Amino acid sequence: MLLPPVLTHWVDLLEPALRDICGYQIGLRDEQGRPTGSAHGKLVRPAFTLLCARAAGGRLQDAVAGAAAVELVHNASLIHDDIMDGDHERRHLPTVWARFGVPMAILAGDALFSLAFEALASPERPESRAASHHLARTLRDLMAGQSHDLGFERRQKPSIAACLDMIEGKTGALLGCACRLGALSASAPPAWEDGFERFGTHLGVAFQLVDDLLGIWGDPQVTGKPVGSDLQARKKSAPIVAALTGDSGASRRLAELYGSPEPFHTDELVLAAELIDQAGGRAWARTEARRRIDAAWACVDDIDMPGDARLDLEELTALLVDRDW
Ligand code: IPE
Ligand code: IPE
Ligand code: MG
Ligand code: MG
Repeated sequence: MLLPPVLTHWVDLLEPALRDICGYQIGLRDEQGRPTGSAHGKLVRPAFTLLCARAAGGRLQDAVAGAAAVELVHNASLIHDDIMDGDHERRHLPTVWARFGVPMAILAGDALFSLAFEALASPERPESRAASHHLARTLRDLMAGQSHDLGFERRQKPSIAACLDMIEGKTGALLGCACRLGALSASAPPAWEDGFERFGTHLGVAFQLVDDLLGIWGDPQVTGKPVGSDLQARKKSAPIVAALTGDSGASRRLAELYGSPEPFHTDELVLAAELIDQAGGRAWARTEARRRIDAAWACVDDIDMPGDARLDLEELTALLVDRDW
């Protein structure tokens, strides 16, 4: 994979303490700051940048800067997200704030955001100004989504439409941008860029819906993230919102349970998950994820992609929803 050396190049420009922390987040360095030679995480977003570049008739080497930038932004957002969500574990390891403290975690996230723009801003590349503009606009949407995500914790019954909007911001926007940057690096026509961005945005929503399902029913040994922490924090993730908006007995019991301020015991966590399932939240999220995959492909219907690039994209797209990791 060509990405870890590029990510290493950028992260190694940081002051040593930040370099080690950012390297730890991405997997380029271990807990003692020793280089590992690889990155962890699924690298979904850069994979889409590279595949969309090929699908738009471009070359991988022209898409690498954009691919690195989206992965740097993604990791920055995760460092800050784990502080916001109070999560202790990610990718089978302590989260950055849990390992290095909140102040350094804030700084490490900021460092990765700024490195992403440095990675895009190459004076030799004519498209780099447009790329920086799209990434900056994307971050505005991502932060709006994260802000609404936090706001939902205090709202009793957000609507499904508001929840999907929030997801489109916090996760859809960056995957949309990842796809657009691929098309942009291939000098594709503006209509193609727009199509690829809408494609990625729908895929991002599908991806987050599956992440929300795994947050309730996933196996932490496989996902590397704690299960039940969304429930414990009374997060209104998509399956929960869908379950709360129903009017069945299960919906009402779930609302009651969710209204209690006390930490859930294990049996209450199990009950909450059961009620979400009975109230239809699990089935709704699965169905909506599949619907989004179809909607994504409809956005690039008119684009004539090389056959092998389309096949690779189809394979990766299917993996987004059929995963347990
Ligand atoms: C986690 O993203 C946050 C979401 C938007 C769901 P990923 O599941 O892509 O995280 P890594 O990079 O593979 O760990
Ligand atoms: C992920 O949100 C979105 C961003 C980090 C911008 P979540 O809070 O739902 O994702 P996980 O489950 O912590 O990875
Ligand atoms: Mg989180
Ligand atoms: Mg979050």
